[in-house]
Amino acid sequence: MNINLLTYDSIDSTNTEALKQARLGADEGLCIVARQQTAGRGRHGRTWVSEKDAGLYFSIVLRPKIETNYLPLITLMTGVAVHDTLEEFGIDADIKWVNDILVNEKKIAGILAETVESPSGLAVVVGIGINIRSTNFPAEIAETATSIEEHLSARETPANNSLPSLTNLEPAGLSQVLTKYLGDFYAILQRERGPTEVIDHWRIRSSYFTGKPVRVLADGNVVLGITDGLDPNGALRIKASDGSLKVIQAGDVERLREDDLGRREMHAN
Ligand code: BTN
Repeated sequence: MNINLLTYDSIDSTNTEALKQARLGADEGLCIVARQQTAGRGRHGRTWVSEKDAGLYFSIVLRPKIETNYLPLITLMTGVAVHDTLEEFGIDADIKWVNDILVNEKKIAGILAETVESPSGLAVVVGIGINIRSTNFPAEIAETATSIEEHLSARETPANNSLPSLTNLEPAGLSQVLTKYLGDFYAILQRERGPTEVIDHWRIRSSYFTGKPVRVLADGNVVLGITDGLDPNGALRIKASDGSLKVIQAGDVERLREDDLGRREMHAN
């Protein structure tokens, strides 16, 4: 994939701009990066806080050659790429199905994949927001969000000083590492056994793959249960507390503590 990076000082939303460009026929590999977003968007119509130079605000246009039913795997393969990007900065991240990248249970990055029809076929725009600094987090996310900065300043400097330091941690450096991993895992996804390989990569990086007590909000319904792997298209399987197996195609996952699940089951009985 040829990466073509367009950078903006300020923009409403890099995803909105990338969708516009894709609709006009932009090639795959077009990346929109901005120092600031005035209308950054998260999933379910939420706002993505996008202060100037406090994060990476990045969107890429993809034109995947995969079967339509595997399109949800694009979010999963992006999660793997973001995970490995953070690892290069010495950060040990977790991936919460389907689009959250966490460190110590706090959100450090999010992914918003959107599709658009264009004269040359369907395009997928993948938007990625990575928190670099947290000094100005608004009160509503201060408790649940974290940033690269918090973890770089907390960690020990290795003797050989091989990890990137805070001073070279700028959006440009970060997007360079990210595009490398996105290119690698996107190529994997499009191989013959790509969907299975992407799920394998996700499995070894996510504590949510199996055995995690969760509460899922999907289509207005609440499911309580334990995660039980992913379907081949990336849907989340849950062993529900009533013994049934639920397959979640889209929804919001919240981690529960073991005893929390037990207590809620007792109340349900
Ligand atoms: C989420 O976790 O809800 C998804 C957040 C996605 C945020 C990124 S920032 C770059 C791109 N532009 C947007 O407006 N949103 C995505």
